[in-house]
Amino acid sequence: MSRFDRLPGTRDFYPDEMRVRRWIEDRWRDVALRYGFEEYDAPVIEPLELFTDKSGEEIVEQIYSFVDRGDRRIALRPEMTPSLARMVAARSQGLPKPIKWFSIPRLFRYERPQRGRFREFWQLNLDILGVAGVEADAEIMAAGVDALRACGLTAEDFELRYSDRRVLDLVLDGLEIDVGARSSVYTALDKLVRVGEEAVLAELAKAGVPDEEARALMQTITGRHLDALEALKLPTERLEREVDRMTRLGAYLAAYGVDEFCVFDLTVVRGLAYYTGVVFEMYDRKGALRALCGGGRYDDLLESVGGQAMPAVGFGLGEAVLIELLEARDRLPVGPARCAAFVIPVSADDRKAAMEVLTKLRGAGVASDLALRDQSVAKALKRATQASARAAVLIGERERESGRLTFRELDTGNETMLTVEQIVARLSYGTPA
Ligand code: HAM
Repeated sequence: MSRFDRLPGTRDFYPDEMRVRRWIEDRWRDVALRYGFEEYDAPVIEPLELFTDKSGEEIVEQIYSFVDRGDRRIALRPEMTPSLARMVAARSQGLPKPIKWFSIPRLFRYERPQRGRFREFWQLNLDILGVAGVEADAEIMAAGVDALRACGLTAEDFELRYSDRRVLDLVLDGLEIDVGARSSVYTALDKLVRVGEEAVLAELAKAGVPDEEARALMQTITGRHLDALEALKLPTERLEREVDRMTRLGAYLAAYGVDEFCVFDLTVVRGLAYYTGVVFEMYDRKGALRALCGGGRYDDLLESVGGQAMPAVGFGLGEAVLIELLEARDRLPVGPARCAAFVIPVSADDRKAAMEVLTKLRGAGVASDLALRDQSVAKALKRATQASARAAVLIGERERESGRLTFRELDTGNETMLTVEQIVARLSYGTPA
């Protein structure tokens, strides 16, 4: 170990890894734009209070923070939602609604590094602000499913589990579980997938929930179906309203063609403090990995950062677990990006002419590289193959005299004499040679 090593939980992105990250981000951006979202960004450093006040206990414990030279308490952002809320709150009057924004922020959390969990990571964030109805929930959930489908995953690979905190509250009210204990109850239930039922029961006991109620609660939510609610004595009107909302959401998800990915599951609670309604998470079907994505409705957050009250729903989808899943399913993009042409001066005297050809190719939009060291043609051809070029373009005395260049396809070894214009036509923007 050297004192210059990477910090725990951080990653160096060598070109091979960087290519994978960009490939994912390109697909995410493409889906967001196809769904009509606009991109935004915010500072990586924010006032610490933005998160200590607005995020859940779990995230707050994981914040990287420091005091700056102006004695301000600063956090490296652990999530994007409080910054988004602040930005929208500051201009909410002037922004046309609904607001559909996306971002791919770099985030930091002081977590125990493990598979799919790092201290520095990236998320796709998609949020709709200004719509209170399940129409926005369905649009957001469909976009989340598509962000994974765009990376080549199918309904066999992952699922989206959703619930609604208002339904859970109905259950908690039915069991007369103290309102003051709710946030500890949410935090305990959120760990169910990771720690199991007994550990959750122990936490519920610590939160002051009597054993009988805690067991009834577990039984109801693990029933995973709205019918499980009927066993409890719940106020009919509220129950009808919630069942109707969930039924409509289910119908909308079917209309978007994503119902085969979506399952209603009352055990989905989410650890973050600000959720008020629909909550959802995406998991790999085999259940071997941690959550790929988490999101939900947070109708009170904007007002609580000083803005006009505004309903909002969104999600964060991380790249780290997604890479794990793509690796496990053998779906990672393969091979380096190919540069189309590799220009080789036959001798040092041909270098300037080679640079002119290179410049014309690049000017015409053909990704091109040049042998930068004087070396034998054989060595330069080897370098061209390493660079995964589709063709080598050789320029020597014969070529300079004839105005035609030797065009060598590297896959087949075929050689033809072509003008620069003909080479451009063959190689432009990846069209097959
Ligand atoms: P979150 O559940 O804290 O939600 O994070 C969402 C996703 O980010 C997780 O499912 C996971 O894939 C990824 N993630 C979280 N922590 C780490 C980590 N340490 N290393 C790698 N990946 C990680 C939020 O952040 C909410 N702000 C999402 C949201 C947006 N809700 C509404 N709008």
